[in-house]
Amino acid sequence: MATILLLLDNRENARLLADYLGNRHEVLLPKSEDALQGHFDLCILDGPALERLWEQVKARKRKAPAQFLPVLLVTSRKDVGMATRFLWEVVDELIISPIAKVELQARVENLLMARRLSLEFLRSVAWSAPLGIMVLDQEGIVQFWNPACKRIFGWEEKEVVGRPYPAVPPEQQEEFSSLLHRVFHGETLLQVEVTRRRKDGSPVDISFSAAPLHDSDGVIRHALTMAMDISERKKAEARAAREFERLTTLHSIDLVVASSLDLRLTLGMFLEHVIKSLNVDAADILLLDEKSRMLRYAAGRGFRSDALRYTLLPIGEGYAGRAILERKRVYVPDLREVENDLTRALARAHESFVAYVGVPLIAKGKIKGVLEIFHRAPLNPDEGWFFFLDSLATQAAIAIDNLELFSDLQRAHSELIQAYDATIEGWAYALELRDKGTLGHTQRLVDWTLKMARASGIKEEELVHIRRGVLLHDIGKIAVPDSILLKPDKLSDEEWEIMRRHPQVAYEMLSRVRYLQPALVIPYCHHEKWDGTGYPRGLKGEQIPLPARLFAIVDVWDALRSDRPYRRAWPEEKVLDYLRSQAGRHFDPDVVDLFFEVLAMG
Ligand code: C2E
Ligand code: SIN
Ligand code: SIN
Ligand code: FE
Repeated sequence: MATILLLLDNRENARLLADYLGNRHEVLLPKSEDALQGHFDLCILDGPALERLWEQVKARKRKAPAQFLPVLLVTSRKDVGMATRFLWEVVDELIISPIAKVELQARVENLLMARRLSLEFLRSVAWSAPLGIMVLDQEGIVQFWNPACKRIFGWEEKEVVGRPYPAVPPEQQEEFSSLLHRVFHGETLLQVEVTRRRKDGSPVDISFSAAPLHDSDGVIRHALTMAMDISERKKAEARAAREFERLTTLHSIDLVVASSLDLRLTLGMFLEHVIKSLNVDAADILLLDEKSRMLRYAAGRGFRSDALRYTLLPIGEGYAGRAILERKRVYVPDLREVENDLTRALARAHESFVAYVGVPLIAKGKIKGVLEIFHRAPLNPDEGWFFFLDSLATQAAIAIDNLELFSDLQRAHSELIQAYDATIEGWAYALELRDKGTLGHTQRLVDWTLKMARASGIKEEELVHIRRGVLLHDIGKIAVPDSILLKPDKLSDEEWEIMRRHPQVAYEMLSRVRYLQPALVIPYCHHEKWDGTGYPRGLKGEQIPLPARLFAIVDVWDALRSDRPYRRAWPEEKVLDYLRSQAGRHFDPDVVDLFFEVLAMG
């Protein structure tokens, strides 16, 4: 039995139809057209009623998209022309009066069958589909909501139909509107991934496709959306990304270890990786001192205080000591529940850590130290997390082992270097005293040459050689007798010849000492001139090594500002004018510019 709504202005016809159909169906003969808003399976109108009501009828049909709501028109032959105007847009079938009972019944049953079929088809698809299927109108009001939608989002059909689509959190409202807007402008969206909200407030990742539903007049008034819950897939993807991130971390730590020879620096960088990839607040490394059998703080990251910086633990004491003694990870989920030296130290320093993990660092069977992890909230670590922590610890242990080996060698080496450098400095001061009678020039030459070198972009690691070169620039004057060096007058040609040998002498002295070879260019080339008129080799322009070009101007600047046995110091203005005038002659013009820039900076 179906419900048939009769809206006929012709009362006689209305009574006739009610009579013909009443024994098989429920027939509604309403007084007002409000009945159009209620439930019915078929609407029958005559021409005048349709002319009056066609807008409402059309709207009603569209309120139930994809649900076939049949409309039958009863019209007289002379009104058929008018009726065709509404055909297909509003009217599905028409019957011409006078009405024959059999024909009427056939038409009605046909339409009802079509409706049942369309409804059943839609139902069976929509009700059994694993996809969430919904229909939204332009305002985002839900018109249709299948059981899969309920499974995905949690709302029942009756809670959402006729209301705004509820799964969009406020911060995504704008994105949602623009998606909806695109569909209503005719676009079909395929597999768009968005995060929506369930009824219980939890987030749900969905992939949806949405297509416009065109009405018979071509206008889009509804969007059909099919949504799939992809939360599981998303979780799997996040897991894969995390694994990848962990691999990358291990790799970049390898790079750090391979490229750095400084243990503390390496451990510091290592801890930064640890904190980031394990997602914890702080971490430190305690190294085991073989001789004293004590654990000593070596590096830390993420702490607010230096409470742990002075940690010195005998093996067996504290969590770290226990981790070593037992060669086993120590995990304390909640430090707030225990009281010991560690928690007291942390409390004094206002470090409010909750979770703690201590992992022994073991390389080649030998204990190297402990990696300690601190977190200001509960950790809830899983298997994978611990596994990753252990791989990090292994890596750290190997790094420490390698670097210890290296630093034993390096220590011996650097002691030698220090001895060398002290010797050079001693030479430099002895020379300075003999040559100029005062101290301070050499230091000034070093300072200004290094300023110039930095300003010209020379690498930091080259500066040590420049420094040594400046200290030794006039070492060759060792071979110049006092009678010439300290002569209070102009030099004779023979004297000048001896004096001009000092760069070559320096070269011969220094080139025998391997570690001074990179420092040679300044002693050897500091009297070369940009225009090629210098000595000992008469180099020109960029043939002269840059450090020597930089030093040359500083040397002349300092010489002219100072008293010499053979002349008084020049006034500052005169000195600077002279330096400027020598751009392109004695000095590299770029170096002259640089000199004045550096001078202006002080
Ligand atoms: P220094 O005194 O340390 O001077 C270094 C450089 O500064 C000189 O290299 C020169 O380029 C510049 N310079 C120093 N004083 C003057 C100056 O009065 N006028 C000008 N135009 N430039 C000056 P240079 O010329 O190759 O001299 C190398 C070293 O030879 C000097 O080192 C100094 O020890 C010695 N020397 C040079 N000229 C004389 C001189 O007339 N009498 C004596 N006793 N020694 C001289
Ligand atoms: C749409 O139907 O256009 C959007 C569905 C959604 O964002 O969840
Ligand atoms: C789509 O797959 O584009 C949405 C559903 C449909 O077009 O039927
Ligand atoms: Fe010199």
